[in-house]
Amino acid sequence: MQDQPPSACPHATPATPPKPPAPDLFTWEFASNPYPAYAWLREHAPVHRTTLPSGVEAWLVTRYADARQALADQRLSKNPAHHDEPAHAKGKTGIPGERKAELMTHLLNIDPPDHTRLRRLVSKAFTPRRVAEFAPRVQELTDRLIDGFEERGEADLIHEFAFPLPIYAICDLLGVPREDQDDFRDWAGMMIRHGGGPRGGVARSVKKMRGYLAELIHRKREDPGEDLISGLIRASDHGEHLTENEAAAMAFILLFAGFETTVNLIGNGTYALLTHPEQREELQRSLSAGHTALLETGIEELLRFDGPVELATWRFATEPLCIGGQDIATGDPVLVVLAAADRDPARFENPDLLDLSRRDNQHLGYGHGIHYCLGAPLARLEGQTALATLLRRLPDLQLAADPEELRWRGGLIMRGLRTLPVTFTPPGR
Ligand code: HEM
Repeated sequence: MQDQPPSACPHATPATPPKPPAPDLFTWEFASNPYPAYAWLREHAPVHRTTLPSGVEAWLVTRYADARQALADQRLSKNPAHHDEPAHAKGKTGIPGERKAELMTHLLNIDPPDHTRLRRLVSKAFTPRRVAEFAPRVQELTDRLIDGFEERGEADLIHEFAFPLPIYAICDLLGVPREDQDDFRDWAGMMIRHGGGPRGGVARSVKKMRGYLAELIHRKREDPGEDLISGLIRASDHGEHLTENEAAAMAFILLFAGFETTVNLIGNGTYALLTHPEQREELQRSLSAGHTALLETGIEELLRFDGPVELATWRFATEPLCIGGQDIATGDPVLVVLAAADRDPARFENPDLLDLSRRDNQHLGYGHGIHYCLGAPLARLEGQTALATLLRRLPDLQLAADPEELRWRGGLIMRGLRTLPVTFTPPGR
């Protein structure tokens, strides 16, 4: 028998009391409503070893205090080279095509000091001020999308609204010319289906997008503008600049970290409002009175209550460590379950209640620590503009399906609806 390595936990872990078998994870029922299973895990197995659908074993961290600590723990590396598993599992951060070598140098896959350098450089170009200046454009895009379906009195808000808004917004911000943006919409559509499209379609889309971005960066270097890509090229730190490859990887991660997440913020957020009519009416009343405070706290609450990112991206133990009383071995993958942590009754009062006015709401929906979401100001802008404009322009918006019938995407990292059918009274009727 092999010797057990010494425990990294300060107090020897007590013998695990007998517990009922853990609920089935990663089934369709779980994808529809994972929260009862997460409540079980928080209570009985807060740091739980599970086998993912891919066959990889990982630890799931579900309590808020442990989750927050793990997100900030630099002994948990983002670099998949620290994973002790077979090569096929390496490099999975949930971003399609990321295993391509040239895409591996993005922020979510690297540790300090490289992460510090790249993040500082991109932060110089992707500033909250640049995002704030972008507000009128986000409003214009939002209105244009609603113009496209409002006469019909019905729509699928995922395909016609939540999906195109972030892709057009990020294309505009990056400086992708308008005439090319529909290509991006098609490529992104292929990727979001995660292989549901034609065989090899995802890989082909990633390749096309990468090729396009590389060429665009090259053109912007010759002829810079006021857009974010030109800002990335110009950004310098102690005389250091991003290489063309780094700038392309950065543009790609901005697109991908900022695309499906925002689709799901708008989709999950609208769904939560439609299924909580009192909360939605209160928000409508406050917006009609010209107040934005409830919208601002409301978006944060929607992120906490049913956020777009269910699990944070992969982390790997670089040394033996202890999380929530559980020994984690070097090389073990750790997945922080943001959706479980944000419903932890030890941190949030009435965590299963949607309360748009919630103030004590330090949720983990945007992560925590050095990988905290770089795009949070843009996500807030898009989420607030989308929901406020929907409620203002389509005040009697109703869900046009039984909630039980709605299908959720079964992806590992993200949580979002496949469709969101709605009806409403067209204007002037
Ligand atoms: C509601 C929408 C969004 C949510 C819920 C969200 C959530 C997150 C989370 C949880 C992380 C940390 C992941 C981890 O530590 O494993 C993250 C990181 C990141 N997000 Fe977002 N995000 C959103 C929108 C955006 C947007 C719009 C952009 C950019 C256009 C963006 C860019 C990034 C980047 C670049 C990182 C990596 C930061 C780093 O590693 O330093 N995100 N996001």
